[in-house]
Amino acid sequence: MIRLLRSLPRFLLLPVLLLAGADIPAAQGPNTVQLEALKRLEGVDLESNPALKAAVLKIVNTTRGTPQFVELVRQFKLTGQNAALLEVALRHPGDASGVAAMRMILDSGDLEDVRSALEPSGTDAPACAQALGNTRLAVVNDLLSPLLADDTASDVLRRESVKALAKNEAGAVLLLQHARNGTLPDSVQLTAATALSQVSWAGLRDEAARLLPLPKAGGDEELPPIAELARRRGNASNGRIVYYRGTTACHRCHIVNGEGVGIGPDLSEIGDKLGRDALIEAIIDPNNGIAFGYEAWTVVTRDGGEIFGLVASETADELAVKDLSGIVHRLEKSKIESRVRSDFSLMPAGLQTTMTTGELVDLIEFLAGLKKSVR
Ligand code: HEC
Repeated sequence: MIRLLRSLPRFLLLPVLLLAGADIPAAQGPNTVQLEALKRLEGVDLESNPALKAAVLKIVNTTRGTPQFVELVRQFKLTGQNAALLEVALRHPGDASGVAAMRMILDSGDLEDVRSALEPSGTDAPACAQALGNTRLAVVNDLLSPLLADDTASDVLRRESVKALAKNEAGAVLLLQHARNGTLPDSVQLTAATALSQVSWAGLRDEAARLLPLPKAGGDEELPPIAELARRRGNASNGRIVYYRGTTACHRCHIVNGEGVGIGPDLSEIGDKLGRDALIEAIIDPNNGIAFGYEAWTVVTRDGGEIFGLVASETADELAVKDLSGIVHRLEKSKIESRVRSDFSLMPAGLQTTMTTGELVDLIEFLAGLKKSVR
């Protein structure tokens, strides 16, 4: 069948598209025959053939919300798809498909949907800022920079905006201007310092190191930029000692090869997941990019109790919250007054101040070596 399709004259593709789709439910996405027919249609001007356009649109709509949708919209240069593209961008703000979707929206010049997704009161705003930033286009700066000074924007949204701005050169310049003028809110200074210490524009990175120095490591040394720290090599067995020693005590919250307490993610294979720069960042600025599933909540109970921790499980009438010492509190929902997602990680910021720069490099060496292959 597929081979037959490849040799079919193009004018016969429309009936094929319609027939092949006649008996499949819409939500399933295109079948292989339809996909092959679509592939053959690449480059065809749909505008001059309304019947064909309608048939293609019908199939494209069955892929709504998926990476394939983005691919098809691009392939057929379909217009008027911003709302559906935005769905993909918000769902996959850190993936190629979401970023491609956002790029197409920006290209369309119609930013209405993006602006409403960025409304500080909306739950989609941080993901929207992230997708915008990952396009690395300077056109996003006008959308994001007003959020820095917007008191109604949450810290999470502001931090995503800072990270997004730092991803294009004009945005990084803008952040430095804010820093120079003293208009960078306190709650994002560390995020800005961290993000700008990693940019590839050396002049900007140097200026950032002057204006927004990274917090000092133990021993009062100024911490070098993350990009430079990530290039250094250390001593993994000394790093292991730093990891377990009392003042640092990473094992109070992390498990490595079965040892420790599982409040944060298991780090047994963290060397596969994160590069050295991301490992350093995870330690210096944990509030920036909280690992999925480890968001912290503050739960206040009617009896005046307050628990800061992770949601361990939830049923219709019970919420289980795991606190910082690993204790799970099972709370009846009828006794809960409020539950608010925290902008902060459960992992305390500033743990690098419990060690010297050399020890930090050793710790990174230890973590970078924690891999599946060497277990
Ligand atoms: C009080 C508990 C606590 C302590 C102490 C702690 N962490 Fe964490 N850590 C967490 C939690 C919770 C997360 C997940 C939330 C986040 O990403 O911020 C996390 C995340 C991480 C991550 C990112 C993991 C991922 O999968 O993305 C790394 C790396 C990490 N911690 C390393 C360390 C190291 C190294 C130390 C010691 C210097 C340490 N942590 C101390 C609680 C802790």
